Amino acid sequence: MAAFIEHTRDALELGQDQVVTITRDGVEVTGFDGSPAEGTRYHVDWDLSAAEKDGHDWFMRKEIFEQPSSVAAALLGRHTEDGRLQLDEMRIEDSELREIDRIIVVGCGTAAYAGQVAKYAIEHWTRIPVEVELAHEFRYRDPILTRKTLVVAISQSGETADTLMAIRHARAQQSKVLAICNTNGATIPRESDAVIYTHAGPEIGVASTKGFLTQMVACYLLGLYLAQVRRAMFGDEIASVVRDLEQLPAQVTRVLDNAGQVYDLAEDLLGSKAVLFLGRHAGYPVAMEGALKLKELAYMHAEGFAAGELKHGPIALIEPGLPVFCVVPPRGRDQLHGKMISAIQEIRARGARTIVLAEEGDPAAGDYADTLIELPKVPTLMQPLVAVLPLQLFACELATKMGHDVDQPRNLAKSVTVE
Ligand code: M6R
Repeated sequence: MAAFIEHTRDALELGQDQVVTITRDGVEVTGFDGSPAEGTRYHVDWDLSAAEKDGHDWFMRKEIFEQPSSVAAALLGRHTEDGRLQLDEMRIEDSELREIDRIIVVGCGTAAYAGQVAKYAIEHWTRIPVEVELAHEFRYRDPILTRKTLVVAISQSGETADTLMAIRHARAQQSKVLAICNTNGATIPRESDAVIYTHAGPEIGVASTKGFLTQMVACYLLGLYLAQVRRAMFGDEIASVVRDLEQLPAQVTRVLDNAGQVYDLAEDLLGSKAVLFLGRHAGYPVAMEGALKLKELAYMHAEGFAAGELKHGPIALIEPGLPVFCVVPPRGRDQLHGKMISAIQEIRARGARTIVLAEEGDPAAGDYADTLIELPKVPTLMQPLVAVLPLQLFACELATKMGHDVDQPRNLAKSVTVE
């Protein structure tokens, strides 16, 4: 869409195997055999400035700083005045949603990590078992799919071939498919039973940023909606989580205001050979997302681990000076905070350079941090949306300092339309 909105906002969505003939006099849509067909007309509401860099050096950096408004847009109009959630394009009947006994989330790359974060929230709120699977692995293991399985396909572009093939397989087995997508009228939402659009606006940088945050928001809305329909939570509990979500744009802004600290860190760590990322619980997918950003933009060896896994092997990688980003869960979450702090002590004792992301006022975190990046105090399930921001900024800045093309990293495409 970014390619044509300079010229028109009126678009025509074509179905599978349709041909369009454009002449001076008009537009004709037919099937392959010439039989008349009809496309669906729609209006694109992205404005042109959304497809320009607005003074930033990269689209990616612009998109990182747009995240407060992207998150706000993803939340807009999702509840009625009396606080009930409403999802416009939820075309699956409530009665069917009540029957769902399993959710499988499919996606690739960053979208799959958004799904992994969502698993913690959706299971917690609905008590429906959630599996998360890389879309390209999904159909080849002959997954068990029934009419009671809800497959959630997350895709920013809506055109990722691996994810598309996964949903085709799921629908052939009679499962319902719900798409979480940023691109109006893309193939994946078109071929799904329902869609939640993320409304992030065009994401042009190859590295997904606002796509990730808004995918998490959409997944959370889905989880809360399911909880509402199935009466798994009380209305006031749902309203309280929605209020937490509505605080996020301001909290995201606060983290982005501190970008300078992350840029200095990138300067310091220029020349590092590898970087590790550790997290626990919902911070674990954040660690993997941080590593993915660095791989794709800085072409560096980077790995994300669940901190509990360290002692089962990865701790052997720790050597003096190795930078390790550690995402510390908020205090009060089971024993996880304390366990994460012990992991940081372990790696620091072996010479790692610890970059600790922890909520402000966390006294333990500062004691073992070579660099402490403070995050706003947010509920545990909201932390991924603020903790990932310094990791995005770090990858963008380091790659820039290394002289790489941040928006179009080597060997990558924005939308991977082949399997
Ligand atoms: O358009 P999609 O969300 O389906 O794309 C999925 C992945 O290809 C994408 O998230 C990729 O991993 C990004 N380049 C990560 O920054």
